[in-house]
Amino acid sequence: MNHFLDIHKTDADALRTMVDSARRMKTARLGRPKAMPDDDLPLEGRMVALIFEKPSTRTRVSFDLGVRQMGGQTMLLSGCDMQLGHGETIADTARVLSRYVDMIMIRTFDETVLTEMAEFADVPVINGLTDRTHPCQIMADVMTYEEHRGPIKGAKVVWTGDGNNVCSSFLHAAGQFGFDLTFAGPAPLDPDPEFVAYARSKGSVVTIERDPFKAVEEADLIVADTWVSMHDAQSARERRHNMLRPYQVNDDLMAAAKPDALFMHCLPAHRGEEVTSAVMDGPQSVIWDEAENRLHAQKAIMRWCFGA
Ligand code: CP
Ligand code: NVA
Repeated sequence: MNHFLDIHKTDADALRTMVDSARRMKTARLGRPKAMPDDDLPLEGRMVALIFEKPSTRTRVSFDLGVRQMGGQTMLLSGCDMQLGHGETIADTARVLSRYVDMIMIRTFDETVLTEMAEFADVPVINGLTDRTHPCQIMADVMTYEEHRGPIKGAKVVWTGDGNNVCSSFLHAAGQFGFDLTFAGPAPLDPDPEFVAYARSKGSVVTIERDPFKAVEEADLIVADTWVSMHDAQSARERRHNMLRPYQVNDDLMAAAKPDALFMHCLPAHRGEEVTSAVMDGPQSVIWDEAENRLHAQKAIMRWCFGA
């Protein structure tokens, strides 16, 4: 049994196996109706709890569908309807859920909810996003990059905007998959220094650049995310927008990167804010493949969690 808590906490060979297995599973399902099970059913007879303390479209739907395609069943639980946060400890919740279900995927605020859940659960726990990281997303992003451009090792990835939870998992992936990452954003929103140090310790070149046009020179991939994350105070919205406006991904910025640079966004996007519609819907954007690949990448993660 394995927990999937973060990319930097997972063995690099296992991560590589997951991306390759996700691509094989995707190919094996080509043309198959979405509700039709896979040929291979590693989750047959298993129940998976999907707990959401924050909103979600992609994570909710792709995990639910992925479990079903692999022969399992799901229980969708919203944090506010559970005793979580109403006095019952995370440890007790983990012990109880372990008697009912075979795996727990949780999207939460504070990372300690995830880590305590993993510490006290007898079943695998998967990180479906915390305020600090979003590892399932970046597994799908690595898969998407490789599908379009081949090995990500040695590529130059440019993160634009806020050094948030998704950026953190990109830094972990830079270290584990061997690519370089340039952060283009304002100093108050710099990425977590601990994660920058982690990626550098693994040999990645991590550059902090205030000029977005300089940052994207020779970029193979440009990534954007919302300027205000679910855990950010809405009162900070205007200040963040003012700081981040120069980092919008638009046609001019894309033109300053390599001519075949890809564009990614984990979604949901705010068209006209962090990215223009022209880029999102343009020829360099792979955002719909990226969203689809959440399904395949997470199926591979769940298989690994069960050692299947
Ligand atoms: N990218 C992502 O995690 O999307 P949702 O918030 O819709 O799950
Ligand atoms: N950074 C965003 C990602 C959403 C998938 C957030 O945490 O709201």
